Amino acid sequence: MLRALLLLGGLAPALPAGPHWAYEGPHGQQHWPEGHPACGGRAQSPIDIRTQWAQPDPSLPPIRPVGQPGTPAFTLSNNGHTAVLALPPSLRLQGLPRSFAAAQLHFHWGRPGHAGGAEHLLDGHRAPAEMHVVHYDAERYTNASEAQHHAGGLAVLGVLLEVGADPHPTYDNILSHLGSIRYAGQTTAIPSFSVQDLLPPRLDLYYRYNGSLTTPPCFQSVLWTLFQQPVRISLAQLEQLQGTLYTTTAAEPEPQRLVDNFRVPQELNQRLVLSSFPRGPEGYSTGEVIAIIFGTISSCLGLFLAIHFVAKRMRARRAQDQDVVFKASSHRTHSDDGPRP
Ligand SMILES: *[C@@H]1O[C@H](CO)[C@@H](O)[C@H](O)[C@H]1NC(C)=O
Ligand SMILES: *[C@@H]1O[C@H](CO)[C@@H](O)[C@H](O)[C@H]1NC(C)=O
Repeated sequence: MLRALLLLGGLAPALPAGPHWAYEGPHGQQHWPEGHPACGGRAQSPIDIRTQWAQPDPSLPPIRPVGQPGTPAFTLSNNGHTAVLALPPSLRLQGLPRSFAAAQLHFHWGRPGHAGGAEHLLDGHRAPAEMHVVHYDAERYTNASEAQHHAGGLAVLGVLLEVGADPHPTYDNILSHLGSIRYAGQTTAIPSFSVQDLLPPRLDLYYRYNGSLTTPPCFQSVLWTLFQQPVRISLAQLEQLQGTLYTTTAAEPEPQRLVDNFRVPQELNQRLVLSSFPRGPEGYSTGEVIAIIFGTISSCLGLFLAIHFVAKRMRARRAQDQDVVFKASSHRTHSDDGPRP
């Protein structure tokens, strides 16, 4: 993904420099740490978010995109790994620890006919695709290339894309131009539009954790925000994303489709995942609900049996005591005729 950072700011050639990498094969993801040591780190992205383990933090404010594009056109490129839309730094994010400026957005997807292509998972579920909107800390750094080397230098918004009945009109602003960037290295200008309309409606519901770029060089400098709500695009729109681009240049003799550009989930290690919202009853899975009901029934049963046996034993002892008292008093009536105190 963020090789595309090399594009930022300037209109440098769309093809990234540096060691070749891919998702599968001899340069596939299990080999990334060989040329890019950070990819073997302990705070990598993406992750599988176990929603019931996320820690609610009511102090996390809603994400607020502000600012206007201020330009009539955006640049859309195929960098051989994804489709990248360069964004102007006039688009800013509020609701984060510092002021962050937009750099670019790009996508991760699967292949036609397959369900999964997103990078972040929610309770093991992989959505069909995911969009990342990359921002950099504009208070401390001049651009994203510089910020990506520093902890907390980048803030990425993750949006899960699911399939719904209707096409999403804002996504058409990008998807309808993919035919102009079929091959790696191609670039096209598209009319600018309201980038914020690509986000889900509820910008106050999200997961937050510290992680990394999900592609080499995998720098661990990203403050992640994954929105809880997905955005729905039509099946035809998803198929445009899955089926239009090539990872090869126009000059290469054997075109390779650009598909399955997602990284497997990484170990959480000691990291905390926060949620901006309280854990609701919907936070429990069916299995947990069954476990809770079963656990409650068996402890009630245990308690009932314990009470039953204790009561039985007490009754038995009381009967025995009464027996002794009766015998003692009958003995007393016969043998102790002296005056009482
Ligand atoms: C980013 O900023 C650094 C430091 O100011 C500068 O050296 C570099 O050329 C900039 N990179 C881009 C892509 O603009
Ligand atoms: C992320 O790291 C920063 C320090 O770089 C820390 O202040 C913050 O609490 C961390 N956030 C989470 C969600 O762990």
